[in-house]
Amino acid sequence: MPVALRTQVGIVGAGPAGLLLSHLLALAGIESVVVENRSRAYCEARQRAGLLEAGTVELLRSAGVGKRMDAEGIEHDGIYLQFLGERHHLDFRALTGGRWVTIYAQTEIVKDLIAARLAAGGAIEFSCSDVAVSDVTSDRPVLSYADSSGETHVVSCDVIAGCDGFHGICRPLIPGLSVSERTYPYAWLGILADAAPSTDELIYSRHADGFALYSMRSHDVSRLYLQVAPDESVEAWPDERIWAELQKRFAVEGWSVSEGPITDKSVTAMRSFVAAPMQHGRLFLAGDAAHIVPPTGAKGLNLAAFDVTVLTDALAAWYSGGDATLLAGYSQACLRRVWRAQHFSWWMTSMLHRFSDASDFDLRRQIAELDMVVSSPSAAKLLADNYVGLPLT
Ligand code: FAD
Ligand code: PHB
Repeated sequence: MPVALRTQVGIVGAGPAGLLLSHLLALAGIESVVVENRSRAYCEARQRAGLLEAGTVELLRSAGVGKRMDAEGIEHDGIYLQFLGERHHLDFRALTGGRWVTIYAQTEIVKDLIAARLAAGGAIEFSCSDVAVSDVTSDRPVLSYADSSGETHVVSCDVIAGCDGFHGICRPLIPGLSVSERTYPYAWLGILADAAPSTDELIYSRHADGFALYSMRSHDVSRLYLQVAPDESVEAWPDERIWAELQKRFAVEGWSVSEGPITDKSVTAMRSFVAAPMQHGRLFLAGDAAHIVPPTGAKGLNLAAFDVTVLTDALAAWYSGGDATLLAGYSQACLRRVWRAQHFSWWMTSMLHRFSDASDFDLRRQIAELDMVVSSPSAAKLLADNYVGLPLT
């Protein structure tokens, strides 16, 4: 016999979107159950985002999960853009009237949110199988799964939130979905290294042999990315080749990338993707389940945070007085910000990467665009405003 359960919001996925949604709902007095098919250890170790917009930092802080972020996160006042062997600084604080960004890894946000939910008695089921969602057009949608010991659970919900990432099961449940998509003819090889970063802020470098990004996770751990072919295998990149390529793509007189043992290596495809609407009946998609951006603009996790704040506010209004206006406008409210981020991420990506079929005209136009960003205060401000993130409301 399956175990029958009842909750207000059934959440599929314990990534940043699902966990933050569960936490924000709890603060609003709304119950939820989070169902995740991976183990807790896997969720806490998956290497992804590192850069948070100021608005996301403020959201995590105001939701009471910012303590470790405030102690261990690193505030950055800007970024460097490098091209033709020269490095230029963009001062975001000056350009945006005091806004900034913070380096704090997605792994740490996930750990903080899991700890906060479990400490508050929240329900997160890890290592589930056969996760399924049904009856989303009824007023009792159902979330079912087998727990880690194989026992089947059937959860009757008011609403289901599909926070299950790009390869999840929820998006395909929306009939007549419209999809806008673009793939890019390159990927990123990302590494983590036990090496104190030799830069104080992130460096986005456009090089004739391909883009490179110098990021970090702490004062002792560097996170670096190289543009590679879309079908590149990690095996083709022994450590010495990675360091040589990084030194070349970041080269400036009298400076070098600091090297150290590489502890993680992976290849990520680049994609722009938007599915609309983000809602069907009582199923609401949030985060990567509905939209993907290439990581050059560092927007994915920040967008996921925005979606779940909109959804929380809409659900709180609905539960408190039966007003479904905000719920009905959920998709539209999210998609406006999603498309702003899509444009920004596409712009950063196309301005900084090398295209294999680029003509001489394309290359010179790309340099002219970078030159405009570093020499025109209004162009620099446009980049800075988008990078630090538009206000959350
Ligand atoms: P996910 O993190 O994908 O979480 C979805 C969860 O659902 C996963 O735990 C998955 O296991 C689970 N799931 C899937 N299917 C099922 C199922 N059937 N049943 C149950 N559970 C399921 N964003 C930024 O804002 N800043 C950055 O600096 C940044 N850098 C990035 C760098 C890289 C290399 C990459 C790849 C991404 C980066 N991003 C960045 C994007 C960011 O990592 C994602 O946007 C973010 O993970 C989205 O969170 P999510 O919760 O929506 O989805
Ligand atoms: C990261 O630190 O992983 C990171 C930072 C900025 C980006 C992408 C990734 O644009």
